Amino acid sequence: MERPRAARLAEPMTASVNLVLGGTGKTGRRVVSRLRELGLPVRPLSRSTEIPFDWADRGTWGPAVEGGGALYLVPPPDVDSAHEFVQLAVAAGVRRIVVLSARGADLYHFDAIVSAERAARESGVEWTILQPNHFFQNFSEDVLRDPVLAGEVVLPTGDHPDPMVDAEDIAEVAVTALTQEGHAGRTHVLTGPRGISFAEATAIVAEQSGRAISYKEVSGPEYVDHLVAQGFPADAAEVLRIVFEAVREGTITGATGDVERVLGRPPRDFESYVRRSLDSWA
Ligand SMILES: NC(=O)c1ccc[n+]([C@@H]2O[C@H](COP(=O)([O-])OP(=O)(O)OC[C@H]3O[C@@H](n4cnc5c(N)ncnc54)[C@H](OP(=O)(O)O)[C@@H]3O)[C@@H](O)[C@H]2O)c1
Repeated sequence: MERPRAARLAEPMTASVNLVLGGTGKTGRRVVSRLRELGLPVRPLSRSTEIPFDWADRGTWGPAVEGGGALYLVPPPDVDSAHEFVQLAVAAGVRRIVVLSARGADLYHFDAIVSAERAARESGVEWTILQPNHFFQNFSEDVLRDPVLAGEVVLPTGDHPDPMVDAEDIAEVAVTALTQEGHAGRTHVLTGPRGISFAEATAIVAEQSGRAISYKEVSGPEYVDHLVAQGFPADAAEVLRIVFEAVREGTITGATGDVERVLGRPPRDFESYVRRSLDSWA
């Protein structure tokens, strides 16, 4: 028989398994490491984890959520799955959900992400939304790594400042929200300490890594053409255009104090990230 919700809510969050979607990704694997360092039970979940989880295969969902108490939710690519998955997770005993969203997701109609936020808000259990700016780690672990290695970063950001944030800080905030009280019903907008343009960021990576890397400003349509010429599917190129043009539009520009409010210390800066990441560009 299902235990009354009040009884479930009274149980300590540390007793059950922390479920980490995207558990091999930029933020998820850092969330996994931090939870393990704290000695807490954790289950990384992705298509390649020991217990596999695939958004496209509902047969994997039940075993993935079994015994779960808190959930780090990296949104699926579609608008429907998050609601169905969250209902399943809550029925299985999940009582706290931390969603990795994105700053400006509503403004730019990233419907799958907005839908995942809504699924958590409507779940009936504790939820926290994280809305980060661009990650520093895009330069070392994602779409800007190959351009860095090729010596030319091409973007349509208008050379405007973006208060990019360290994925380490996102993970630390996520673990705090997963394991500690005081974050339920809150949305944390996660930024680094200051706005930094992609041209300046590129120059810092170049200087610290000893590589010759230029920055080239292009229009949105030119950026899409550039990505498609590099082999990106057109729809993925269009998403990247939107997220980088958002910087030029100035809608996700201001630094917030949310990382410091949650962690009690200032966010990591880009320079320290680059010093830690030199092996990525060796
Ligand atoms: N990059 C940025 O600057 C930025 C900024 C703000 C917000 N965000 C948001 O961050 C999210 C991405 O999170 P992240 O950067 O931590 O992850 P990530 O590095 O993009 O990695 C994606 C993760 O999802 C897993 N995955 C991929 N397809 C899957 C599927 N069909 N079923 C289950 N798991 C799957 C991958 O593992 P497998 O391949 O093993 O399945 C991996 O663990 C996106 O929603 C994005 O909008 C990113």
